Amino acid sequence: MNEGRRIRVGVVFGGRSGEHEVSLRSAESVMAALDAEKYEVVPIGLTRQGGWLSSGDPMRALKAGAEALDETAIVTNPRGGGLVTVSVSRGLEARTALEPIDVVFPVLHGPYGEDGTIQGLLEMANVPYVGAGVLGSALGMDKAMMKTVLRAAGLPVLDWVAFIEPQWHGAVEQTIVEIEARLGYPCFVKPANLGSSVGITRATDESTLRQAVGLALTYDRKVIVERAAIDAREVECSVLGNDAPIASVIGEVIPDREWYDYEAKYANSSTQLLIPAPLSAEASDRTRALAVTAFRAIECAGMARVDFFISRDESIVLVNELNTIPGFTSISMYPKLWEASGLPYGRLLDRLIELAIERHDGRSRLRTDR
Ligand SMILES: Nc1ncnc2c1ncn2[C@@H]1O[C@H](COP(=O)(O)OP(=O)(O)O)[C@@H](O)[C@H]1O
Ligand SMILES: [Mg+2]
Repeated sequence: MNEGRRIRVGVVFGGRSGEHEVSLRSAESVMAALDAEKYEVVPIGLTRQGGWLSSGDPMRALKAGAEALDETAIVTNPRGGGLVTVSVSRGLEARTALEPIDVVFPVLHGPYGEDGTIQGLLEMANVPYVGAGVLGSALGMDKAMMKTVLRAAGLPVLDWVAFIEPQWHGAVEQTIVEIEARLGYPCFVKPANLGSSVGITRATDESTLRQAVGLALTYDRKVIVERAAIDAREVECSVLGNDAPIASVIGEVIPDREWYDYEAKYANSSTQLLIPAPLSAEASDRTRALAVTAFRAIECAGMARVDFFISRDESIVLVNELNTIPGFTSISMYPKLWEASGLPYGRLLDRLIELAIERHDGRSRLRTDR
């Protein structure tokens, strides 16, 4: 597809999510590391309101809080398949303005990006894209659905209670009784669809539980309350591939506070990442195998970071969650784990783009007649 010209990679960042800033940081790293000899980067910024910016410097525009529409639009190609960039003033009739985007790299964390929404748009437009498809993305985003599927696949997860806003308001006392009986305190209260620890509280009694649910409901109509992993270590594994996914070495996160909250992740904290994690070979292999099983269970593709809780004696390993578009700065865990496994950042990006094209080609071969 790239004979004589570079692959045009649309890198999409920003978006209507609480993780907007995190996405900008990830995308800056990705764009800087894409090999300029092989790729032409097309930066595509999504504003917090859902506007698309694709001319000039969308990264700078987003950082400056831009909302305005610009001179170039990304549209589905009216002459058949694909996405094209087109100059708004020259219009679709200016054929020379129709430049196809060969592959899209959505570097979007959280809702409206990591959850299957942009993946659906790209499927409709028939454009290859990096990472999980619609189903895998949606399952990876919704913590309650993810856990339901992981448990059905026989994977060990912490017990939980999930509800939507009207169920909570319709039966507050009953739900609290159920949470106390099934999960106890402390428990973790989370918006079902978010990430970066935004909106999460560690509840220690009935009053903090009520406040925590109130807070989580400001981010999502659906909330999940989870039994706490007590005195557990947090370890993570990067998975890469489509039908034959492989697992990286294991890394460990040691937050500089009680749990791995937003500040511990992104503010200037002294949270440590240990790569590789100091684990026995046996526990490490067991965790890597679980990571691949979890990746397959939710039908991931391309990449995912699978996060675990592991007991100090290494006897219990529980899947916490999958991130289908993990943090992607050059110091983020996902690329760091690959680097430690022998795949440096730039080559990881090459591989993800190859996997995107492979997956698209495989689906394009399917029959559409009857
Ligand atoms: N059930 C739990 N027991 C102990 N710690 C938890 C639990 N759930 C979440 N945490 C802490 O909160 C952090 C963020 O929770 P997580 O479910 O991974 O949400 P996010 O998608 O925002 O990363 C975890 O990394 C961990 O430190
Ligand atoms: Mg997490």
